[in-house]
Amino acid sequence: MSLESRRAFLRFLAGSPLFAGLGAALAGCRPAAKGNGAAAAAEPPPDLVGSATEALDVFDLRAVAQHKLPPAHWGYMATGVDGEATLRANEEAFARLYLRPRRLVDVTTVDPRVTIFGREWPAPIALCPVSGQLAFHPERELGSARAARASDTLQMLSTVATSGVEEVSAARGEPVWYQLYPTGRWDVTQALVRRAEAAGCPAIVLTVDLPVDSNRLTAARLARQDARDCTVCHGTAEQRESTYFARKPMFTGITLGRGEMRASALTWEFVQRLRGITRGRLLLKGLVTREDAARALQAGVDGIIVSNHGGRAEESGRATIDSLPEVVAAVGGRIPVLMDGGVRRGTDVFKALARGATAVCVGRPYVWGLAAFGHAGVERVITLLRAELARTMQLAGTPALRDIGPSAIGNA
Ligand SMILES: Cc1cc2nc3c(=O)[nH]c(=O)nc-3n(C[C@H](O)[C@H](O)[C@H](O)COP(=O)(O)O)c2cc1C
Repeated sequence: MSLESRRAFLRFLAGSPLFAGLGAALAGCRPAAKGNGAAAAAEPPPDLVGSATEALDVFDLRAVAQHKLPPAHWGYMATGVDGEATLRANEEAFARLYLRPRRLVDVTTVDPRVTIFGREWPAPIALCPVSGQLAFHPERELGSARAARASDTLQMLSTVATSGVEEVSAARGEPVWYQLYPTGRWDVTQALVRRAEAAGCPAIVLTVDLPVDSNRLTAARLARQDARDCTVCHGTAEQRESTYFARKPMFTGITLGRGEMRASALTWEFVQRLRGITRGRLLLKGLVTREDAARALQAGVDGIIVSNHGGRAEESGRATIDSLPEVVAAVGGRIPVLMDGGVRRGTDVFKALARGATAVCVGRPYVWGLAAFGHAGVERVITLLRAELARTMQLAGTPALRDIGPSAIGNA
């Protein structure tokens, strides 16, 4: 085990109620109060699956993840904003769409392959950038990368990951796409892009939906319930503000406060400027309107990810699957349009494809897999979603992606 991996493992132990006593002893952390977190109970509930392969759908992995994670970490992952209408809408809107299956089509074989920027992928399902994966499992982003490698899945790495882009790309077996948070400081943006490009990342994904901190109440509430001493890993509130980014591997050598990172003054000029220095592909993540899609085309971006940050940014109340059609219409097939938010089953993937998405990305589901069983859990999520999509394609009489058009679904 490398020194960094060992440190990461110890930090994880310190954060896990499963190992509260041991972790505290190793890492010098105040042990968790008795009864803190579901996992403090010795015996797992009998209905939890005991291995990744036993999971029948992604929700089986969610149950294990919730059982294993301490309240604050579960809350960080699960949270939406305000009353969480947008978080719910993302999932519920899929249920309002129904399939219009065609019969008497030869569906002996299905072909879910998709090509994005000249690279062919086995399925139109990618892993979203998700920050701080050490909070979920000691394998952190490397576990996700191992699963992405085994299944040849497109992986995006967060700017605020708990692993550097070089080690993640090495574990993935090829450079990942790099998600960039804008900052008010151009030198920082430049340094991050240069580092990602030096690691070979073929695409930069600029996230534009969080100009200020959002109102994450579930995260705040569950953090209060967590009796562990969070300062051991995160520092005091003051330190957290001033060193949050400096402690992330992608910011080694860069000092930046949380406020500076939010870049609330950012405009399309920034996108234009970023376009100017980005050698590879540039995508915008977080667009939800036709107006912004049109601006993005003018700015010369190569792709769009329709996203509301998994209901973690503004409380719009609108599901991304419902934002997708207007973006797709504005883009008119000129660049790939990916989408994320609420994708939990193969039928959801199918519905997004029918509404014009080139591919979908999943966020929480693979984190559930990671938290539950490390890389094996992430792999299981990918396997399940792919199998569900393939089966849906067969049952709907659409054996290739090009067969999944608008008429393959309807709106209840
Ligand atoms: C715990 C967590 C951390 C996230 N971190 C980032 C991030 O660092 N950068 C980013 O662009 N999006 C981030 N997102 C948003 C995801 O990339 C994605 O938009 C969202 O999770 C998709 O919705 P889903 O979770 O319903 O699949 C995060 C989401 C979660 C749940």
